[in-house]
Amino acid sequence: MSEMLNLSNIRAAAKRISAHAFRTPIMTSCTMDKKAGRRLYFKCENLQRTGSFKFRGAINAVSEMAVESRPVVVTHSSGNHAQAVSLAANLNGLQAVVVMPRTAPHCKKDAVLGYGAHVVDCEPTEAGRENATNLEIAKLTAGGRIGEFVSSSQDHRVIAGQGTVALEMLEDLQQLDGIIAPVGGGGLLAGVALAAKSLDPHCDIKVIAAEPVNAADCYNSVRSGHRQPLTSVPQTVADGLKTNVGTVTWPYIKKYVDDVVLVSEQEIKDAMQLVWERMKLVIEPSAAVAVAAALTQQFKEQHSKLQHVGVILSGGNCDLNKLPWIHM
Ligand SMILES: Cc1ncc(COP(=O)(O)O)c(C=O)c1O
Repeated sequence: MSEMLNLSNIRAAAKRISAHAFRTPIMTSCTMDKKAGRRLYFKCENLQRTGSFKFRGAINAVSEMAVESRPVVVTHSSGNHAQAVSLAANLNGLQAVVVMPRTAPHCKKDAVLGYGAHVVDCEPTEAGRENATNLEIAKLTAGGRIGEFVSSSQDHRVIAGQGTVALEMLEDLQQLDGIIAPVGGGGLLAGVALAAKSLDPHCDIKVIAAEPVNAADCYNSVRSGHRQPLTSVPQTVADGLKTNVGTVTWPYIKKYVDDVVLVSEQEIKDAMQLVWERMKLVIEPSAAVAVAAALTQQFKEQHSKLQHVGVILSGGNCDLNKLPWIHM
């Protein structure tokens, strides 16, 4: 699809995924409101199937392709998208092949295997994973089968699925005047921004991206008006946000996103600990980036008019042996 998506694509995705994806709860906290100086509404995608919003995009893409043909679903990911695609394929009776860096934690590989996918190890580099993915697709073709790749963010079916997060938030909370979403490749941000701005044609609602200062490609791109990918892999505890915004998601971000708030590594860790302690919610560092952004001075000063802000808790898959506040 070369054209941009519209609201009807997101509504269609919502219908398509409703049999499988949870409508996740929205939680509030007086403590968090006090710290933020406004009402915050936390959309709990950490409680989504497979532990992150990624299941929405994956089940939307895989369900669409299952109707059109019966391919083997192929992807590469070391994180939440791998688990999401594996379960989505399984639920549609399709086989999945997931290319994962050989250095990926065993718990993540075990989760993917547990959903019935075939795991292929690759070298932990971009070239390594692309070569391995192409090889797997070529092997399938040689065997007379179709291997269809599902990108974790650069796929319109995935973006439409992720947009359903905002659809649900705005159905449940008409008073929202802002939404904060973490950004990596930009699939979540693109879908959410498109849905929010389409549902509010006067564009009173502000869509704010949250990003680690160590991985500020979205920030630099929005400020300059041109996509500015980083040339080396950033160092951040928010492992889901190391990816650059891609060519498919960038047009949505350029058109619809109002601002990008940067947070430090310490702010990410503090926000994660705060949510665990005070809200009793298990969130991972990438999700904590959105919480940290809501608590920054920059957000307080530059968006002081926003009174009711939705914060997307994008996932809860943590390596419990490596919690950022435990020094062993
Ligand atoms: C928990 C979590 N939050 C946010 C993101 C960023 O999503 P996107 O790549 O769609 O920007 C990811 C990506 O892996 C993630 O796993």
